[in-house]
Amino acid sequence: MIEAVGVVKRFGPRTILRGIDLKVETGETLVIIGGSGCGKSTFLKCVIGLHAPSAGRVVVDGLDVTKLRTESEIADYRRRFGYLFQEGALFDSMTVADNITFGLKYLTDVPKAEYRKIASDSLALVGLKDVEDFKPSELSGGMKKRVALARAIAARPEYILYDEPTTGLDPIMSDVINDLILDLQKQLKVTAIVVTHDMKSAYKVGTRIAMFHEGRALMTGTPEEFRTTDNPFVRQFVDGLSQGPIKMKLKDFEADEAHAAPPAKGAR
Ligand SMILES: Nc1ncnc2c1ncn2[C@@H]1O[C@H](COP(=O)(O)OP(=O)(O)OP(=O)(O)O)[C@@H](O)[C@H]1O
Ligand SMILES: [Mg+2]
Repeated sequence: MIEAVGVVKRFGPRTILRGIDLKVETGETLVIIGGSGCGKSTFLKCVIGLHAPSAGRVVVDGLDVTKLRTESEIADYRRRFGYLFQEGALFDSMTVADNITFGLKYLTDVPKAEYRKIASDSLALVGLKDVEDFKPSELSGGMKKRVALARAIAARPEYILYDEPTTGLDPIMSDVINDLILDLQKQLKVTAIVVTHDMKSAYKVGTRIAMFHEGRALMTGTPEEFRTTDNPFVRQFVDGLSQGPIKMKLKDFEADEAHAAPPAKGAR
């Protein structure tokens, strides 16, 4: 089980997460939705220990992640996770197969002779074959996404954090990835957090959904509760409406107070 208790994250003077309280039960898939820049990726990085929360804690199966200190404690912890980075983060100079198996030598004692098969098996799970020797620059955007996903599952982790797994994929491939997330949950009993803007995906894969807004989990509930809620903030996001209580900052450098101001005439 993953539990976030009052997670605050500041970058210099800016407070991105203002106290996130969330629980992800073992075997469930929690979907996080919320506006661009609200801190979803930052939260995932706090969970895996790439960012240290400024306050609060993340507890995984009773282990307080914020208290891990030595390299071996951190490696033992990370070994249990697969992480799909939003931007893919493939190494351009390495082949697809080497990208997929890159973490194995640090995180597992799988013999090197098995790496090639693990790469092919992981690629097959995301619907790719015969691309082991390609370089990332020779792949389409959607293929890169799937290679990054293959890397996230290569070590068959207990937990998978997916940051926008379907963004940039065509609708059919998006659904293939949704099915894969569901399969991993059912067959391998993976506990997952999925960050997405894709409501179709959120409804399909989420055991529960949490919506982040202004640094907090504004609502947490089942897909059914999100479909039927009359919370105007959630409705606006879920229905994709430019008008409503959520005012988008049109420029990232606008002061936070401007956040609450009504949109400029003609703004969308
Ligand atoms: N390492 C960092 N240093 C400083 N600021 C950061 C850092 N990482 C993220 N931020 C800031 O934190 C805010 C939230 O970023 P984050 O990537 O978590 O948003 P997000 O919710 O994932 O957005 P999107 O949906 O667009 O991916 C942004 O304003 C970003 O500039
Ligand atoms: Mg993000």
